[in-house]
Amino acid sequence: MCGIVGAIRANHNVVDFLTDGLERLEYRGYDSSGIAVSIDGKIKRVRRVGRVALMAQAAKEKNLFGRIGIGHTRWATHGGVTEPNAHPHISGGTVAVVHNGIIENFESERQRLQKIGYVFESQTDTEVIAHSVNHEYLQTGDLFTAVQAACKRFHGAFAIAVVAQDNTENMVVARMGCPLLVAFGEDETFIASDVSAVIAFTRHIAYLEDGDIALLSTKGIEKLIDKDGQVAERKVKISELSLASLELGPYSHFMQKEIHEQPRAIADTAEVFLEGGFEPENFGSNAREVFDDIHSIKILACGTSYYSALTAKYWLESIAKIPTDVEIASEYRYRDVIADPKQMVITISQSGETLDTMEALKYAKSLGHKHSLSICNVMESALPRESELVLYTRAGAEIGVASTKAFTTQLVVLFGLTVTLGKMRGHVSEEQEQHYTEELRQLPGSIQHVLNLEPQITIWAQKFASKQSALFLGRGIHYPIALEGALKLKEITYIHAEAYPAGELKHGPLALVDENMPVVVIAPNDMLLDKVKANMQEVGARGGELFVFTDLDSNFTEDEGVHVIRTPRHVGVLSPIVHTIPVQLLAYHAALARGTDVDKPRNLAKSVTVE
Ligand code: AGP
Repeated sequence: MCGIVGAIRANHNVVDFLTDGLERLEYRGYDSSGIAVSIDGKIKRVRRVGRVALMAQAAKEKNLFGRIGIGHTRWATHGGVTEPNAHPHISGGTVAVVHNGIIENFESERQRLQKIGYVFESQTDTEVIAHSVNHEYLQTGDLFTAVQAACKRFHGAFAIAVVAQDNTENMVVARMGCPLLVAFGEDETFIASDVSAVIAFTRHIAYLEDGDIALLSTKGIEKLIDKDGQVAERKVKISELSLASLELGPYSHFMQKEIHEQPRAIADTAEVFLEGGFEPENFGSNAREVFDDIHSIKILACGTSYYSALTAKYWLESIAKIPTDVEIASEYRYRDVIADPKQMVITISQSGETLDTMEALKYAKSLGHKHSLSICNVMESALPRESELVLYTRAGAEIGVASTKAFTTQLVVLFGLTVTLGKMRGHVSEEQEQHYTEELRQLPGSIQHVLNLEPQITIWAQKFASKQSALFLGRGIHYPIALEGALKLKEITYIHAEAYPAGELKHGPLALVDENMPVVVIAPNDMLLDKVKANMQEVGARGGELFVFTDLDSNFTEDEGVHVIRTPRHVGVLSPIVHTIPVQLLAYHAALARGTDVDKPRNLAKSVTVE
């Protein structure tokens, strides 16, 4: 969602960094952007609704220049998509602020500040930060103490960066619940909410912790106090994120690139188990004791990550024989839960920042769940930091809003977890372990074969492009893949799509089926194949057009109204991973045919950091 950048540079114009950094954060989703610099005793600002490129052009036309500045991409929450609501927000011409997150008590703060005489120009919660900091600054003349005093008043999750009109040396930043990092160059210091914004400039990075407030200069962090008001230091790390993973290369869209990166991403992620074995230590040095101490699992996640959890439930219960519950994080966090200290809470998240998942984890811990594991794609993000154990997927940066390689690599980790727990609990023999290892080793090759089916899937996609709705069916462990297929299609094509377990058809959704309703069926050769075939008959009899993804040996024949694409071989328990690829490609090519914005679908954001 929203993105923050900022810089203090001794020898360069900050505007170049600010616009470049914001462009690199575009993938997170936003609807307006802006930058502000402090120069010659003034704060100068440019804001625009729409693409960062528009704002960058306006900054160029105005010859905006400075050695210190901040920038922001906004995804509207409080107040509509308008220029006055775009960040940075300025108070009294004195201070400028950019902000991620939400100030929950902004209404009472707004009233307090209005009584003092502040006039609000926007509908945002952020403007209370600007006025509040300004109010303190006018009294103390010290930006650091002003931000410190103002932050004490705010409830909620936020990351902020502040510059002042009369200070071209220092910026003050604060983090409480939303990610923020400081990056160090030569005679220049950067800040960003996401490492991808700074990586073209420096790899030396320190992540701020919740409650941190820091004073920055071109030399780095001049002063940092932690949540207890104590002076603290934050470790500088070298980011391993590759710049190539942030560039399109020969592809037209990041989603296309990321779909095609899956053989590599899966191989990199599987390497943990192929090199290190199915051992608990892959999840943390104390994972063996933790796994010995649990009798069940609760998985909390949102969206696509939730569907990987649903898939894992089948593996965990059938292979590792461990009872597993899966819940949508945003629901879990608001219901009465019977906590169980021996139930390990797993959170799954590509970004590691999803607010609902984060709050659900905190809630679970507060209720007495003793053990937690995070499966995440972004190093040092909030969820792994809040969890006892962690295993990172090695998908590389995922830029397309529609998650693809993050999903399949999550599945690889969840499968590795299943075999690990199965072994520890005596349900996976040595022979089975070898078999699973071999399946995992061959998985990238199988995925590559499915990618080669792209031309056939593209032809199908043309048919979907003119449809209003689509149904996705699956059974057993392939039902979550049907859900994922429907989500991909609706996210990027805006075609209404729903997924059902095929056995549920006759309990309602069959009423929707007619000749205008394409029905996608995920039907590999497993124990439920005959049942799925019977469900397909029900669709065929009502004139529905069937699009079947199956594997080589499942004995389907093409017929009037029945189209079949076969994945090259049956891959046993890993079949859900292989069958994800065709539904991703179908959605991608249908979106291309409809001309939608594949990587930045309307109304959606990559990291959902608000409720
Ligand atoms: C996936 O295509 C979506 N954009 C979305 O459902 C996403 O999976 C969800 O918001 C959860 O995100 P996370 O994995 O970063 O927590």
